[in-house]
Amino acid sequence: KNIAIFASGAGSNAQKIIDHFRGSSLAKVTLILSNKAEAGIFKIAEREQIPAILIDKEQFFRGDTYIKLLEEAKTDLVVLAGFLWKVPANLVTAFPNRIINIHPALLPKFGGKGMYGHFVHEAVLAAGEKESGITIHYVNEKYDDGGVILQEKCIITEEDTPESLARKVQVLEHKWFPLIVERLLTQ
Ligand code: GRF
Repeated sequence: KNIAIFASGAGSNAQKIIDHFRGSSLAKVTLILSNKAEAGIFKIAEREQIPAILIDKEQFFRGDTYIKLLEEAKTDLVVLAGFLWKVPANLVTAFPNRIINIHPALLPKFGGKGMYGHFVHEAVLAAGEKESGITIHYVNEKYDDGGVILQEKCIITEEDTPESLARKVQVLEHKWFPLIVERLLTQ
């Protein structure tokens, strides 16, 4: 099975997924795509010798170029691992229930455009939440809106800061995302 990963940042989730399938006969990450030339994800791709593509914005939002590219790469599952753009509807339609995303909060709260990175954790803390966590969900044409696949929670304490909460959430991301990818590919 072929996994394509879209990422915009450091790529730590992408790295965990690559590690999880190392030497596996079930699946492997065969393509990495990013909208940020300077993102850490390109260093990961280089080190792991995985083809990496810098996304062209106009073409991405038109969709067809990347649909063709993903189909030619025989992609079975598209994984958004810290990808900040909304996926165009035609790309969603081309891969029904085969595009998933991870969000560092318990959707439907604290989701949507602009809710990423430390902004999420700041909002969760400002709202006085007693817990946060991750949401892994199918992607549809809206931000952070598709069917939920898994939610895992962490407790928030008085001492938590956006940074400490981010670390708690990242532990959950790194533990669960690879497992969900594997579960979806063995169904
Ligand atoms: C994570 O917080 C993830 O939940 C969100 O974007 C971030 C990606 O981090 N979608 P990384 O680039 O995988 O380290």
